[in-house]
Amino acid sequence: MKIKEAKFLMSNTRVEDCPVPDKPEYAFIGRSNVGKSSLINMLTQQKGLAKTSSSPGKTQLINHFLINDSWYLVDLPGYGYAKVSKDSRESWRKMINYYFQKRENLTCVFALIDSRHEPLKQDLDFINHLGTLGVPFVLVFTKLDKQSATKTDSTIAAYKRKLRETWDELPQMFRTSAELQTGREEILSFIEEVNAQ
Ligand code: GTP
Ligand code: MG
Repeated sequence: MKIKEAKFLMSNTRVEDCPVPDKPEYAFIGRSNVGKSSLINMLTQQKGLAKTSSSPGKTQLINHFLINDSWYLVDLPGYGYAKVSKDSRESWRKMINYYFQKRENLTCVFALIDSRHEPLKQDLDFINHLGTLGVPFVLVFTKLDKQSATKTDSTIAAYKRKLRETWDELPQMFRTSAELQTGREEILSFIEEVNAQ
């Protein structure tokens, strides 16, 4: 798929205030700093579209972007940032769960995982939670430019082993680098195919 136009629409905390749910929606989520906003900029080829930062916790709201006038892309706030207060963590949890349950046009969630780390409990818990909610999702292993291909392979293999303990079917998986533009065609083709269904 070619991205002809990508534009920022709005940021919200309430699902009710989000754009009219009349188009398929793809949301990006994962631990703070995993590279959600960078991946969105890489996919759309617009460097400053989603705000990125080297300090975690940059994205705090549900951010909607409209792509080619035909689908929504959403940048969600990350989880797992240690310095966040208990109250903020709780409001994040409520906001995200509400979004997953009420956003009727939510077509697929891209759950991002830093490919440098062995499976983290926080990520596994989050993936299992998505599965339990019945939200369609795929996994995206990010920042693969930061280590060898062997290391990325071993991270992915370890996640597969862990997930097989709970699920019969494994989700689709992508590997990406915002730095090297890896995985762009694969993710855009996937979205194009799902949109066509
Ligand atoms: P929050 O909004 O804070 O939850 O973070 P985020 O998940 O949106 O991460 P963001 O895209 O802001 O990136 C965090 C940091 O990782 C930034 O310094 C990015 O430059 C860096 N980064 C993101 N993706 C990649 C990648 O593929 N390769 C490398 N080398 N760095 C990356
Ligand atoms: Mg962000």
